[in-house]
Amino acid sequence: MQSSMRERLVVALDLPAAADALAMARLLEGKVGMLKVGLELFCAAGPAFVKELQVFAPIFLDLKFHDIPNTVKGALQVVLRLDPRLVNIHASGGPLMMETAAEVVRVHRAAGGQTELLAVTVLTSLDREALARLGSLDEPADLALHMAKLAKECGCDGVVCSAREAGAVRDACGEAFHRLTPGIRPRGEAAMDQARVVDPAQALRNGATWLVVGRPITQAPDPVAATLAILNQMAEAF
Ligand code: C5P
Repeated sequence: MQSSMRERLVVALDLPAAADALAMARLLEGKVGMLKVGLELFCAAGPAFVKELQVFAPIFLDLKFHDIPNTVKGALQVVLRLDPRLVNIHASGGPLMMETAAEVVRVHRAAGGQTELLAVTVLTSLDREALARLGSLDEPADLALHMAKLAKECGCDGVVCSAREAGAVRDACGEAFHRLTPGIRPRGEAAMDQARVVDPAQALRNGATWLVVGRPITQAPDPVAATLAILNQMAEAF
């Protein structure tokens, strides 16, 4: 049970320096399913550092590409040389951009690569008012579900969404279409700057495939103990 929970736990290495990220990766080796490298660490440490981290766990390269199809294609082809476990793009880049990205990732897998492609539906930092100011009259959750269906049509392998939306996405797009969910907080812990948090067991019950956890692990006095406590909470879902 612990190993299947472990595979579903993704730790966000939102750390400003490569040395800190490396120390955390060493500490968590064998205890988590994936390490997430976002824009901060990628800009600080670059692609060569991602290779160093891959020794410790598979990598989710969370660079959220959003550009015209040809530019996204070129950028993806470069990062796919690292063969990360997951990469992502913004669904709002449009159907042609998503189809182009999905084709690049399919070609990579046909050549023996492992990477799967996720689409970011709607940033959780965008609430109804912010969407209205952008010209959309949708509720964020409705727009997220619409984007998830479109991402599936366009050949993406899953989405990044709130754990609150994971069930609706699974029902609409099927079990095999992944739901990766940030905004996870262990029971009894502060939400920090996350607005709509879900605890680990509830996120899995809601239909999340992978849980992304950052600061509750990376800023804990004992990151290994915090990881084990989260894995135990995850197991309660089953
Ligand atoms: O520290 P914390 O657990 O809040 O980290 C969550 C991670 O998930 C961060 O890397 C954050 O950028 C990312 N994320 C998020 N909400 C989204 C998309 C990504 O919190 N909608």
